Amino acid sequence: MNSMKIALLGFGTVGKSVYEILKGNAEWLSQKMPEAISVKHIVVRDLSKDRGVEASLLTTDVQKAVTDADVSIIVELMGDCPEALEGMRLALQNGKSVVTANKALVAKHGLELFELAKKNNCEILFEASVGGGIPVLRALREGLSANKIHSLMGIINGTSNFILSKMKSEGASFEAVLKEAQDLGFAEADPSADVEGHDAAHKLCILAMLCHGRVIDVNDVFVRGIHFIRPIDLEMAERFGYVIKPLGITKLHGDEFEARVHPTMIKKSRPLAHINGSLNAIYYEGDFSKEGMLTGHGAGGHPTASAVVSDIVELVRAQKANSGLEPTGFLPNALKPTKPKDPMQIQTRYYIRFSVKDEPKVLACLTSILGEHNISVQHLYQHGKNDHDEIPVIVFTHTCKEQDVRDALKKIDAKDFITETTKIIRIEDDEN
Ligand code: NAP
Ligand code: HSE
Repeated sequence: MNSMKIALLGFGTVGKSVYEILKGNAEWLSQKMPEAISVKHIVVRDLSKDRGVEASLLTTDVQKAVTDADVSIIVELMGDCPEALEGMRLALQNGKSVVTANKALVAKHGLELFELAKKNNCEILFEASVGGGIPVLRALREGLSANKIHSLMGIINGTSNFILSKMKSEGASFEAVLKEAQDLGFAEADPSADVEGHDAAHKLCILAMLCHGRVIDVNDVFVRGIHFIRPIDLEMAERFGYVIKPLGITKLHGDEFEARVHPTMIKKSRPLAHINGSLNAIYYEGDFSKEGMLTGHGAGGHPTASAVVSDIVELVRAQKANSGLEPTGFLPNALKPTKPKDPMQIQTRYYIRFSVKDEPKVLACLTSILGEHNISVQHLYQHGKNDHDEIPVIVFTHTCKEQDVRDALKKIDAKDFITETTKIIRIEDDEN
């Protein structure tokens, strides 16, 4: 029987899982597509590893796999490397449609790749790049296309959510949980992309295109990671009715656009507060759909491969029907390059953790400097001494400006009674 041939570029956590679904669900998939598919090439770096597949499928030659005249769909699952970008460019230039899970490259080179696809009458789909197995991009592109989405808050990095959830529920150490996330295939090849927030920033850029039609440079996203979070922060959040979640946030107020990624305190009652482990969730507010949340497994081989294979199915159908797809849901000339609002002008509430020496007048000095910078204190809590003879002092502020907080902390951190650089966590609740 004739089949449409595909080339898999990459056979790691996701590539291997894509192969498993294509094999394991072949009969099921044949009931959904007008033509069967088969894998003709699998590109890897190291041919000596045992992959459990026919050796004749394996190659290290991206160009050979991509330009093979028999192959009509290229599935790129290699990672943020020049070979992956070149492989996608070459595929599209040769009129071959691409499916990718590569959030880094779609965030950085999306417009160029979409244009290349249009020019060469082929498609690029990237459902797996955000939210793993959750069909979030398809929902935004199609199911919610009637709406202007005003704001979005998402747990869009499974590794960070897994770490914070396990630190809280099991008292586990950051390093031990990160290692577990790596073993489970959730983390990126370089896990600093996960814990420092860059992976979520890439995904936020993609969401900004599909939700708001805004094209932003990933370097303009305000990004903070989760690496500074300590058990005391999780304990204080709990005591004051919050949880800490790694969030990507976009907000559109008129022409002003906010795009930020940081650990965030949210009220325990909010739907996102209950999304734990490697689960992801995207909470959106549409003008007519109103608010809604999409949730599911956001990382790992099988959930991610589910999204990849669904894109392959969509492409096979589109190719057979000779119909074009709009990868972002917006017409290309409707996408607006946008510079996000200066993060220093963002107004929100803050949790501030000072580490101080046990000396007279310290609290008075802290509150006086905060006051001089228009920062009004909602709660102030002095914790018992820690093992290093320091006293953590916790402040929850009312809404204030990022610039004022930075200026105040610069003055405070220069004081002799400060034993460690002050840490802040932004709070999202009804007041801001
Ligand atoms: P991975 O386990 O590191 O696998 C990468 C694969 O690509 C390996 O088979 C590797 O070959 C091959 N490869 C890398 N560079 C290559 C090169 N220059 N030439 C030839 N082959 C090369 O990565 P992964 O976790 O599957 O992730 C793949 C992509 O999916 C990434 O873009 C990632 O961001 C994205 N993604 C991952 C997840 C997840 O949960 N893991 C979720 C969503 C999206 P060898 O096997 O020989 O090393
Ligand atoms: N490393 C990513 C995460 C994989 O942990 O969310 C899914 O994109």
